[in-house]
Amino acid sequence: MKFTLSLLLPGLAAAAYRSEIIDHTDHGEEVLSARPHEYLAADDLPDAFTWGNKDGVSYLTRSVNQHIPQYCGSCWAQGSMSALADRVNIARENAGVPYTLSVQYILNHQIGGSCYGGSASGTYAAAKKAGPIPYESCFSYLACSSDSSEGFCDSVEFDESKASQTCRTCSTFGEGCTNIDKFPNVTIGEYGTVSGADNVKAEIFARGPVACGINAEPLLNYTGGVFEDDKLADKMTNHIISVVGWGSDADGQYWIVRNSWGEYWGEMGYFRLRMGDNQLGMEDGCSWATPDVFSEDNFPCFEGGENCGGSHSDDDTYSAREEEASILSGYRGVEYVDPSNNLEEVYARLN
Ligand SMILES: *[C@@H]1O[C@H](CO)[C@@H](O)[C@H](O)[C@H]1NC(C)=O
Ligand SMILES: *[C@@H]1O[C@H](CO)[C@@H](O)[C@H](O)[C@H]1NC(C)=O
Repeated sequence: MKFTLSLLLPGLAAAAYRSEIIDHTDHGEEVLSARPHEYLAADDLPDAFTWGNKDGVSYLTRSVNQHIPQYCGSCWAQGSMSALADRVNIARENAGVPYTLSVQYILNHQIGGSCYGGSASGTYAAAKKAGPIPYESCFSYLACSSDSSEGFCDSVEFDESKASQTCRTCSTFGEGCTNIDKFPNVTIGEYGTVSGADNVKAEIFARGPVACGINAEPLLNYTGGVFEDDKLADKMTNHIISVVGWGSDADGQYWIVRNSWGEYWGEMGYFRLRMGDNQLGMEDGCSWATPDVFSEDNFPCFEGGENCGGSHSDDDTYSAREEEASILSGYRGVEYVDPSNNLEEVYARLN
């Protein structure tokens, strides 16, 4: 990723909003398929396109408030995981309730950051390396990381040796929590960065939402409409959001952006931002990732997890384990087909 203005103009950092991007370094890319802007010309893209309303259907995953039950600077995890989950849902053609991914898993392992901030490209790179990302019900959002002590975070157990920090259940009073080691998940295929309005639009159109940095300070009291602001200092990024599409009005085009401050904020948790001159620094740096394999079925674990590595069980008493192995072989994920490798389908959507 290119250097953002925040590196060039550190002294101008806005005081009131605490930056949740602590890392502007280049986390590299893993790119095998063509990049959408290589095969989609900006002029061919529609004037308006959003995954929130594509032919009357929304493909987007739910909105969240990253700041409850207490403050946590997890925008980078929310923005990156929601964009990835949207892409799974797009691949599923919106079949049923969309799966969402466990942001708390990302926080527990500090994959790309903590409640003190992080980066979207760093998250995609580290999450790919870390392996299966569990669906939300494996570990719901607590708004804590092991280095945070806001609210009740001091009393949250981050000890890996006790119960899994990836997927767990707490099945009865007094028994503590147990590991679940077979759980529905998604793995990352490719990841990279994209910048410039035309390139970002092509990426969104072909493959789905992206996670981008912005300066959130001017948006704190946003109450709707297309936001525009041309102060240079306001292009220093300190927050990550996911961009889901664009629209147009008499003054030109604008981005449609999902924030993670709850639906009570902005336009039902979203905002619109004028496109084309790097408003709030957004067009400087966006990150994307594609799924590799995602679960459409689960391995059927017992309620207490005993046949799924339940953690009180370092004991291997469950002879069901052998049986499992054979069942597991039937527990296959769905392989993602990258739209960049299926151009006829992408071009068909241009009409
Ligand atoms: C938002 O509004 C509150 C209340 O009027 C004000 O105190 C605060 O400074 C405003 N924040 C920004 C960033 O404008
Ligand atoms: C992740 O899901 C796939 C199927 O989508 C499954 O084969 C794999 O075992 C799962 N990983 C874990 C750790 O449960």
